[in-house]
Amino acid sequence: MQQTSCESNQSRRTDFLCETNERNHIKKVVAVLSGKGGVGKSLATSLLAVMMRRKGFKVGVLDADITGPSIPKMFDVKGRVEGNEYGIFPKRTHNDIQIMSINLLLDKADAPVIWRGPIIANTVKQFWTDVIWGDLDYLFIDMPPGTGDVPLTVFQSIPLDGIVIVTSPQDLVSLIVKKAYNMAKEMHIPILGLIENMSYIQCPDCDKRIDIFGKSKVEEAAKEMDLKLLAQLPLDPQISMLSDKGEIEKYDATYLDECINYIENKFRE
Ligand SMILES: Nc1ncnc2c1ncn2[C@@H]1O[C@H](COP(=O)(O)OP(=O)(O)O)[C@@H](O)[C@H]1O
Ligand SMILES: [Mg+2]
Ligand SMILES: [Zn+2]
Repeated sequence: MQQTSCESNQSRRTDFLCETNERNHIKKVVAVLSGKGGVGKSLATSLLAVMMRRKGFKVGVLDADITGPSIPKMFDVKGRVEGNEYGIFPKRTHNDIQIMSINLLLDKADAPVIWRGPIIANTVKQFWTDVIWGDLDYLFIDMPPGTGDVPLTVFQSIPLDGIVIVTSPQDLVSLIVKKAYNMAKEMHIPILGLIENMSYIQCPDCDKRIDIFGKSKVEEAAKEMDLKLLAQLPLDPQISMLSDKGEIEKYDATYLDECINYIENKFRE
């Protein structure tokens, strides 16, 4: 890949921003963030993409989680991406969502990436500058977990239109969400809201909601931070089964419907 031209050292936030490939017309970029790994960030990113695609939008997913890439597997996308002198072409899923991930660049998808932070951040930038996404209504970014240097650099170099924060019940207790929230605030990027994941199960027989960790604190937390609670996803065997089989596009529950409508309306021109 070529060297990108966004290594400037100036202090204003916008000075770090990178231009996307000149062949791209990307209307909205939405980053999905979580305070730590394992809370369902990649799953939420994938489902947002799936549901937006189902509405007829042109959608891409940029897998910025270089050390823990899981997007290609959820969509059953394999093999190496191809490129030409103008850039790299993302892979297409069964339902025509475009995907770019480190797993589609490396020869061995299961080889651990042990690069240093700056190289990782640079790779993510190149997914923005050197990938030919073409025309997209929505590009969803599965952000690196946490609030360290890599996510910060990604925040600074890709012009985000909004952020979705994914939380688990445990994070709410440990204030990890607050960190993600503070980072987004500091960068002046609008936070669309919170998605709470895996705090309850839905009884398959009577549809009753069972709060497995006690009553959820997410409403309180959302209120405190003045954030919208976009969705609450249950711990759902369908989800883990579909994501393991690479069939996340077959997901058919309605938990995210309101969230998707909200994002669509928010960004309607
Ligand atoms: N609501 C859910 N119900 C069942 N399994 C889930 C749910 N959310 C996530 N998972 C599973 O938990 C694991 C971690 O989710 P993932 O999205 O990869 O987390 P993260 O990207 O935050 O590290 C995955 O195997 C995923 O399929
Ligand atoms: Mg992940
Ligand atoms: Zn029941």
